[in-house]
Amino acid sequence: MLPGPTNVPNRVMRAMLAPIINHRSDDFVELYSDVVDKTQQVFQTQNDIVALSASGTGAVEAGVINLIKKDDKVIIPVNGEFSNRLSQLIAGQGANVIKLETPPGQNATFDQVKEAFDNNKDIKAFYVVHNETSTGTMVNYLDKVSDLTSRNDSFYVVDSVSLLGGTELPVDKWNIDVCMTGAQKAIAAPPGISPISVSPKAKKYMIENPPPTMYFNLARYFHYYEESKHTPFTPALPLLYAYREALEIILEEGLESVFKRHKTCSDALYSGLSAIGLTPFAKEEDRSISIVALNYLEGLQDKIFRDTLAKKFKVLVAGGFGDLKGKVFRVGCMGEVSPYHVMRTISAISSTLAMMGYDTDAQAGLKTAEEKLKDL
Ligand SMILES: Cc1ncc(COP(=O)(O)O)c(C=O)c1O
Repeated sequence: MLPGPTNVPNRVMRAMLAPIINHRSDDFVELYSDVVDKTQQVFQTQNDIVALSASGTGAVEAGVINLIKKDDKVIIPVNGEFSNRLSQLIAGQGANVIKLETPPGQNATFDQVKEAFDNNKDIKAFYVVHNETSTGTMVNYLDKVSDLTSRNDSFYVVDSVSLLGGTELPVDKWNIDVCMTGAQKAIAAPPGISPISVSPKAKKYMIENPPPTMYFNLARYFHYYEESKHTPFTPALPLLYAYREALEIILEEGLESVFKRHKTCSDALYSGLSAIGLTPFAKEEDRSISIVALNYLEGLQDKIFRDTLAKKFKVLVAGGFGDLKGKVFRVGCMGEVSPYHVMRTISAISSTLAMMGYDTDAQAGLKTAEEKLKDL
């Protein structure tokens, strides 16, 4: 139950036993074209796809260095570790960063974003972390942002590393120019492949203004794909096989059903864990559906709690980041998450709290969660 990497189905693990092939062969063309096609289906886009052999940060870095130059004006909401890192990356390019800062657990509102656009007509790009993994918040107005970015022809860039594949994020319908994710979260593949989608407008810009780097220069990937359906550099072949299998599992289940399962399981976790006496960290309307962050009860020791949960009940959850270390813990609700995981997690957390001397009502937690899980 980590906020990533998440559990990887056996079918996906077995896909990595395929022989290592020549990445300049027809076999590779078949594999990589299929990876691109399936990624397009999950991203709901016709845009170009690059499946980078890198962790999520690689895709995020590529999404910045290929678009942002010195003195460009960029708007970005910041309310946690990952949005902060993204804003640092953008600032590192010499850009003029307009940060919309809100307290952790709370998102900038759409009106605040609109106001920033109204006050700055020369915005080059809007960057946003869809799901702030460090605090368990999720931005709910991504469908409306292109009304603002299209007004002054700026780029719309989304870091959905910890959510894409777990909720509705139709890249083409919402006019997202660049969208990045990581395979090890809602897609439920092993870490190491990070896909990125690029719109025709962003692609043209990237080709005309390549960054002074090699590995993350996306224009090289477009060129190789168009010429031969290859990648410019040696890809992580076993991980590509696994990633393709994970996408196939999502498409077999159907996007709508996968999204509903994520939402229902997180509703059940929030209400079940609240019923045993815990309180969610994030503001209700901003709560993530893939990361359930909870406040620690008074005096509860982070390390002892998580170690007990892991050792006695084999349930892994994550601690807090930075200032939130020791104050919150985070339960991942992604990938193959199911009613089994939800019920088992609530029961294990409740038992751990009881072992540590806290009064909890396990039955109330399980009953509340079961009620929410009824229509799955
Ligand atoms: C929102 C977000 N962006 C970027 C990253 C970085 O991904 P990685 O650790 O795979 O490099 C993460 C990782 O958790 C994330 O949650």
